[in-house]
Amino acid sequence: MAKTIHELIELQLSRRKVMQYGVGAVLSSLVPNAFGQAKMKLENQGEASKLLGFKAIPVAHLLDEVIVPEGYVAEVFYRWGDPISDGTTFKMDASNSAQDQLQQAGMHHDAIQFYSLPRKGYHSDHGLLVMNHEYIDAQILHADGGIFDAPENYTKEKARKEQYAHGVSVIEVRKIEDNWQIVRPSAYARRLHATTAMAISGIASGSPLLKTTADPLGQEILGTLNNCANGMTPWGTYLTCEENFNGYFVLPTDKGLSKKQRHAFKRYAIKQSYYGWHQHDERFDASQHPNEPNRFGWVVEFDPYDPNSMPTKRTALGRFSHENVAINIGENGRVACYSGDDAQFEYVYKFISNKPWDGTQGAHHGALLDEGVLHVARLDDDGRGLWIPLIFGHENLTTEQGFDDQADILVHARLAADAVGATAMDRPEWVSIHPNTSDIFISMTNNSQRGNAGKLAKSAANPRDNNQFGHIIKLVEDDATSTEFEWNVFALAGDEGGESTIKGDRYANPDGLMFDSRGVLWLQTDVSASKMNAGKFTQFGNNQMLAVDPQTKETRRFLTGPVGCEITGVVMTPDLTTMWVNIQHPGDVPKALKNQGVKKSPAKPNAASNWPDHQANGRPRSATVVIRKEGGGVIGS
Ligand code: FEO
Ligand code: CA
Ligand code: CA
Ligand code: CA
Repeated sequence: MAKTIHELIELQLSRRKVMQYGVGAVLSSLVPNAFGQAKMKLENQGEASKLLGFKAIPVAHLLDEVIVPEGYVAEVFYRWGDPISDGTTFKMDASNSAQDQLQQAGMHHDAIQFYSLPRKGYHSDHGLLVMNHEYIDAQILHADGGIFDAPENYTKEKARKEQYAHGVSVIEVRKIEDNWQIVRPSAYARRLHATTAMAISGIASGSPLLKTTADPLGQEILGTLNNCANGMTPWGTYLTCEENFNGYFVLPTDKGLSKKQRHAFKRYAIKQSYYGWHQHDERFDASQHPNEPNRFGWVVEFDPYDPNSMPTKRTALGRFSHENVAINIGENGRVACYSGDDAQFEYVYKFISNKPWDGTQGAHHGALLDEGVLHVARLDDDGRGLWIPLIFGHENLTTEQGFDDQADILVHARLAADAVGATAMDRPEWVSIHPNTSDIFISMTNNSQRGNAGKLAKSAANPRDNNQFGHIIKLVEDDATSTEFEWNVFALAGDEGGESTIKGDRYANPDGLMFDSRGVLWLQTDVSASKMNAGKFTQFGNNQMLAVDPQTKETRRFLTGPVGCEITGVVMTPDLTTMWVNIQHPGDVPKALKNQGVKKSPAKPNAASNWPDHQANGRPRSATVVIRKEGGGVIGS
């Protein structure tokens, strides 16, 4: 069985490997702010049934507001277009330039983390918020829309603004009395985006597969894309995950590509772009620059405390549509990184470092993520499972089977995982690790193709054909570095009359998962607008965040979002009295409104939602919301 928190502490302390600041990190995936939380965890052991103390809120049906329980306050904090420091303010008519956007919050906020200031502290009143901006809505970003709205008006300036609205924000935040404020100006404030220079490390660095005309050495990449969810390392850096990077490249012709390249492009779904960047930035044409797509789909690490630090793409963690990275430390100090590949019939991976982490903080530990073994999960029907190593020369990962070397295996992790018999899952989204038991929870959001003609049918780990509502899998390991595990289905999401096993408030399409240091599992949903508020999905209402007691499985609705949005990220201060939640893509048109003829357009960006500003000629804006208890106190208790 997994070690308890006491056993882990004793093990680590007896080996004298963990210095003061590292203790908390060993205990929790919510590091490095966890030292102060360790005591709290110990006190709470065995009281799991008392975890949830708030009164659940009802489902929201097309309400254009964020709702939280009685006794809580939620305030809009950081919207798309808000300056990160002392840059230009947002213009509601979308007339901000690309240059303005470079110093403003990106669009489509996703995962978020909090880093205490000063560094190595566990303060709950001053810190950095670091968050992803996953993608953009061109109908909201530009006054007259994007390439599909007005192809003749698609300028380089527009392409640049779209690129700069992607990436990551770092903002400095401080609590003054009860109010959190963004510190402006701030020397920490920073934006990463689709053209920021990044290093490449690990075995694939310098590989022929990563070389391009602009970068003949294969050692420097411009930009990060589709930054979905994230991870925080115990040594205090931020990991941003590149998810649907395929949607930025066009492949007008595959003439001149090798058979292997064509196969890989198909496996990674590289064909059509959601944008038009290739018109002004030639590297996004994969037929001209076939290695450029190989430079995305990675986990990128950077030090948020150093605004000049160069982000690094860590190739040892493999290339796929990374949702997030959850980190745990093994008894021997080695680092395990868990990551789902969010697409239908894709896999769950675990990287295990070769070397142990010494328990100290500092960006230099990043190199731990360069040497180690990437594994992929096989979930057998009997409830047991295996992490299969993806090592060149092992199993089918040989030259005869078409693999050139270890770099090839990392660049084409999906192909390698196919070759070793990994279990194809129903869109693996977030992984989160229980702070006391180290049990691993993974959300499978849905898979409409399961059981269809020519596709894999249901099995124990993906137990429903046409899985509309999703489920959550729990893995139990002896140690974070184990290569075997046991697993079970923690919850089947969905409706009351169906097969759902939810105990309490209902939800569909689990996506974001975040354990807080008390052991509450915060669960966020991503019902697609194409189904939202209509048919079988009416009962789940707008997208929501729930709190789950992992022992009793009791599930309570804590937050509902505005119209058309998805709830994407959540983080708390070390003392658990402040919570930030990200609201992404308000203003997508839910099916229920589409059925009534509601249509969003550049002329009417607020057809479905006008959150959060509710101005007459306004536009919906993704935003971070800050939540506290009236009068203070631990959130969720
Ligand atoms: Fe970006 Fe799979 O969510
Ligand atoms: Ca997600
Ligand atoms: Ca999702
Ligand atoms: Ca999404």
